[in-house]
Amino acid sequence: MDDLTVAVVGAGQMGHGIAHVMLRAGHLVILLDSSQALVDAGAKRIVKGLARDVEKERLTEDQRCRALASLRTTTDFAGLSEAEFVVEAVTEKFEVKAAAFRAIEPHCRPETIFASNTSSISITRLAAATLRPARFLGLHFFNPVPVMKLVEVVPGLQTAPDTVDKAIALAVSAGKTAVCVNDFPGFVSNRVLMPMINEAVFCLMEGVADAAGVDNVMKLGMNHPMGPLELADLIGLDVCRDIMMVLYESFRDSKYRPCPLLEKMVAAGWLGCKTGRGFYEYPRR
Ligand code: 3HC
Repeated sequence: MDDLTVAVVGAGQMGHGIAHVMLRAGHLVILLDSSQALVDAGAKRIVKGLARDVEKERLTEDQRCRALASLRTTTDFAGLSEAEFVVEAVTEKFEVKAAAFRAIEPHCRPETIFASNTSSISITRLAAATLRPARFLGLHFFNPVPVMKLVEVVPGLQTAPDTVDKAIALAVSAGKTAVCVNDFPGFVSNRVLMPMINEAVFCLMEGVADAAGVDNVMKLGMNHPMGPLELADLIGLDVCRDIMMVLYESFRDSKYRPCPLLEKMVAAGWLGCKTGRGFYEYPRR
């Protein structure tokens, strides 16, 4: 695939990771967020990640320099005019994502493909909020993005086949395996993962085992690399709760109700690694 210009909207945990793998693949990346401080924080993590890639011999020093020279940062939507792909990774709320696409659209070419990294929101509904539903789809990356091999490629009802082909090619160029799944709440990944995490929280709440006990059962008994509570801390408890709410409201099935302990921890601001406390405590960096 030719080197492309890929705009990444949102420089947080997922956005900076997506930008990192796109740079590693040789694409030009425009990283956008709402403030210079957020963009700078994302860029700093990318610089660190690329240096680590050289240390681990995933990149040569020359490739690292070229990748760094291919990174642009901006807080201005007008800066996205050259993008061939826009990958959105902002807050997991329909209104926030739809507003971001509406703000971006006037600055982009009509042929530019829009992709959302949503973890559960309907791609069909997001696509309908733009003027290019045929050139819109879901590209769902996994945390930590530079490490996880999967990208779920999610066409909406309106997505054109060549949009899907181009998005698969982009994911593959970034070293990922693309799995195409249909647009249902939570897709496959979070439809399966989040109820497991939620059930682990119920086990903790009901005293079936403590957090380490729940996690050890799944790590040692099922060979999961992390226990579900540890993983929830990595993903963010607010994100887990929001995804459970999408499943609950979309399917209208009580089996997806968020565990009250999960709700309570979110209300306390104990959101996992990012706030220093979730099911475990994390020393502040
Ligand atoms: N952020 C960035 N990089 C990380 C990281 C993190 N939080 N944790 C580990 N890494 C990197 C390490 O730096 C290391 O990279 P290196 O090759 O440069 O040294 C590499 O990952 C391997 O790390 P370690 O050897 O220290 O540790 P492990 O072998 O235990 O692997 C792990 C760590 C990859 C995080 C592994 O535990 C794992 O795969 N966990 C499950 C992660 C998972 O399920 N992610 C999906 C979450 S769901 C999601 O994202 C969807 C969303 O919609 C909710």
